[in-house]
Amino acid sequence: MRIILLGSPGAGKGTQAKFLCEHYGIPQISTGDMLRAAVQANSPLGQHVQAIMASGALVPDELMIDLVKQRILDADCQKGFLLDGFPRTLPQAQALKDAGIDLDAVIEIQVADEVIIQRLSGRRVHPASGRVYHQDFHPAKISGIDDETGEPLIQRVDDQADTVRHRLSVYHQQTTPLIAYYLDLAALQTEKSPQFFSIDGSQTVDQVRAALIDVLGVL
Ligand code: AP5
Ligand code: MG
Repeated sequence: MRIILLGSPGAGKGTQAKFLCEHYGIPQISTGDMLRAAVQANSPLGQHVQAIMASGALVPDELMIDLVKQRILDADCQKGFLLDGFPRTLPQAQALKDAGIDLDAVIEIQVADEVIIQRLSGRRVHPASGRVYHQDFHPAKISGIDDETGEPLIQRVDDQADTVRHRLSVYHQQTTPLIAYYLDLAALQTEKSPQFFSIDGSQTVDQVRAALIDVLGVL
């Protein structure tokens, strides 16, 4: 199973990716998590992208395309994978296609911008695993502590209101054209074209999860 999750910052891609990857036994490829790990490790890639990410802009396409193409070659991707946060520009989508990486499903999680700011201001994350919580909507069992490891949760540097507004505008300009791109591919209905689904992401975490399992069940 090869899945792409599309959706604005805070739409719930990371949250739902965890459920889906467990369900299908496939790895989550979160480009945001990979980049944050590089920043944390202070690697050359991390040093290059740190300021870009903190500002809410996108990292250059060539870097992202190389990163993902390499990751997909790993043995754990043989049975499939879920892409969370990639592609987010037309050149990135085209690079996947040119590399012959076909997809089963592209799923857009739709959430209105007003809801996003509230979601991201309450988000807390466990950096090592990418597990995502929300103070009100998806709380950890003990506030500020990861359920699985007991380690502290942190707030992302790009979750401040001004940066979130910038990320939303970047999403509308650079990533929403992918919806038409994948709708067109799906309409071709060839063996290689993915199915396209759109899910209402403003429902509760459990409702969104059920809707996703529902649409993927038809594949
Ligand atoms: P990335 O890490 O991918 O960030 P993003 O796309 O902005 O998405 P988020 O991780 O903020 O949101 P999410 O949809 O995963 O939501 P979540 O599940 O956490 O990218 C970060 C940066 O890296 C980019 O800005 C860019 O600089 C760079 N980058 C990454 N990929 C790139 C690429 N391909 N090209 C170029 N640059 C790239 O949920 C959010 C909150 O809401 C949580 O608190 C959660 O608990 C809560 N929540 C989730 N679902 C619900 C629900 N149904 N109801 C209520 N609350 C909910
Ligand atoms: Mg995420």
